Amino acid sequence: MISEPKEKIRVGEEIFTPLLSEEQIQSRIAELGAQLTIDYQGTVPVFIGVLNGSFLFMSDLIKCVELDCEIDFFKLSSYGDEKLSAGKVRMLKELNCDVNNRDIIIVEDIVDSGLSVKYIEDLFAEKNPKSMKVVSLLVKPKSLKYNVKIDYIGFDIPSEFVIGYGLDYAQKYRNLRSVYILSEESE
Ligand code: PRP
Repeated sequence: MISEPKEKIRVGEEIFTPLLSEEQIQSRIAELGAQLTIDYQGTVPVFIGVLNGSFLFMSDLIKCVELDCEIDFFKLSSYGDEKLSAGKVRMLKELNCDVNNRDIIIVEDIVDSGLSVKYIEDLFAEKNPKSMKVVSLLVKPKSLKYNVKIDYIGFDIPSEFVIGYGLDYAQKYRNLRSVYILSEESE
């Protein structure tokens, strides 16, 4: 079921307007899944989702990947309940699987400063994967402060706060099917 996005979402004095519709998101995910299916042919990659934000993207992405694959999740926190990055990363839930000599694909909902991906790259480099690539549904190119390579990108977006499709505002709004962006209309 494709739902029409709400015109506006009001959170206190802030107004969010539609940025990416459910249809745009699902169509791009199908393209990413098709590309991953080609690139990982003959392998059994491990998709590793970074909680909480990536849970919807992970779910929809692997349905578009026509390969035997495995999944796991771990949880970091860099933001707390604030809209701006706190500049540090904490590990809140460890990975369960052994990634030694495996092809791993890190699944992110959004790359903002790049701090989380940098932390993940350093963490996994010590675990000797066969290969490591990163797929992120959203990237804010103008916000990047760390030299990280995002191998598969859903959408480049402006450096404004976004919610929906896994992305939260104080832990809410993750269940929206579309992505909404903080609007200049906000008071
Ligand atoms: C968000 C997002 C990324 C990270 C991106 O996670 O899911 O992991 O921030 O920002 P960065 O590029 O500046 O590191 P967050 O810590 O908000 O946790 P959440 O996924 O549970 O919302």
